[in-house]
Amino acid sequence: MTQDTAQTAAPQAPASDGANSRKVFVKTYGCQMNVYDSGRMTDALARDGYVPTEDMGEADLVLLNTCHIREKAAEKVYSALGRLRDMKKARNAQGREFMIGVAGCVAQAEGEEILRRAPAVDVVIGPQTYHRLPEALNKARSGARVVETDYAVEDKFEHLPVAEKAKIRARGVTAFLTVQEGCDKFCTFCVVPYTRGSEVSRPLSQILDEAKKLAEGGVRELTLLGQNVNAWHGKGPKGEELTLGDLLYALAEVPGIARLRYTTSHPRDMDDRLIAAHRDLRVLMPYLHLPVQSGSDRILKAMNRRHTAAEYLALIERIRAARPDIALSGDFIVGFPGESEQDFEDTMSLIRAVGYAQAFSFKYSIRPGTPGAEMDGHLSEEVKTDRLERLQALLLQQQKDFNESCIGREIEVLLEKPGRMEGQLIGRSPWLQSVNVDAKTSQIGDIIKVRITGTGPNSLFSEPITIQEG
Ligand code: 5AD
Ligand code: SF4
Repeated sequence: MTQDTAQTAAPQAPASDGANSRKVFVKTYGCQMNVYDSGRMTDALARDGYVPTEDMGEADLVLLNTCHIREKAAEKVYSALGRLRDMKKARNAQGREFMIGVAGCVAQAEGEEILRRAPAVDVVIGPQTYHRLPEALNKARSGARVVETDYAVEDKFEHLPVAEKAKIRARGVTAFLTVQEGCDKFCTFCVVPYTRGSEVSRPLSQILDEAKKLAEGGVRELTLLGQNVNAWHGKGPKGEELTLGDLLYALAEVPGIARLRYTTSHPRDMDDRLIAAHRDLRVLMPYLHLPVQSGSDRILKAMNRRHTAAEYLALIERIRAARPDIALSGDFIVGFPGESEQDFEDTMSLIRAVGYAQAFSFKYSIRPGTPGAEMDGHLSEEVKTDRLERLQALLLQQQKDFNESCIGREIEVLLEKPGRMEGQLIGRSPWLQSVNVDAKTSQIGDIIKVRITGTGPNSLFSEPITIQEG
């Protein structure tokens, strides 16, 4: 599954094309896959004359691209819809169109229920049917309330336009590219197999075309996305079976692409070819998000993760042997039903054994319809809070240690965007850290070598050395 960073992002507005065009405000909840989907929906709506805006106050259409992974994420949507209902009333009183669309995983999971709980909503559209959004809005305009949550038979990506060069430019030098969707793993805590459906891989040629377009638009770093990205599989030009490792070798050849990443992986699908790609490809960044969720074999079994803690540690060893400078990131759940203090301590031991550069951790959240919800031994909020605090203290210390280990090192940074201070840019290290760099705006997109001089709460400080490439 894609890493959920609770990020929200409205696609950036390109230059406005006139006062007459309709405006769409997209609010994105949840994982990077939703960020990617929001961009593609905005591109599809552009064909219908919609211009993106970052100001909800001037929007004619508000689209919430929602997340259902934990209870809190789903609740947020309903409170946002409450506020939007009042806005719609006020707009309609002025005789202005104001439409509300709910997309994403809450839309998929709750469908009609959203119309019942939130009568102001015009369109509910699930992740597999985004290409039908313009048509759904038209139906809604003529008075219908539309719910589109089938798993469409047609390939949504074939029907969703890729942005033109100018728009890609406006979005910056890094981009997401969805290569795989859905999940067949059925971890017992997780709603994804129900909201995103079973695993589907996009064909190699479609991915390569999109990567080339992005590169031509100025993108230097691509992050391949999939709920279970390392389950990607495809066919080569001669009909040969390909896996994610092969895809990375192919993408490494795309002119202009200087950095590749992928997320999120399941340990069971880290095959030899993928590990070889980490050994061979300099453009594949030495950073891997490899969630383990728990360090207790008993809990891993109850979670249906289908590997043990020892197998995970052995896998990490193999990956580190192939790429010694690789940094690891992970996801952890505390308070899964039946988790004892000893199980929790096993998770802490695993974290100490691995040493993570970054991590995401959550209290177990009951998701109706998943096997976990029906299990015995649900833990109190107090126990979950206490364990999460202890776990996060350890992970935070590891992150700090990792950042401090970078001080004095010369590293390559991809310059991404203006910094907070004049004459400074923010760039990314190979290990996904934000780095403050003294550089000019014209250098955005360059990779330069810097020396790390210190660490702040959310970023590293640096001094420049030499320009590597442009
Ligand atoms: N409760 C808490 N965390 C969850 N995640 C997925 N489902 C749940 C749940 N029911 C976490 C997992 C996953 C990350 C994206 O979200 O750690 O890897
Ligand atoms: Fe959810 Fe497990 Fe699939 Fe990840 S691998 S999306 S946690 S079911």
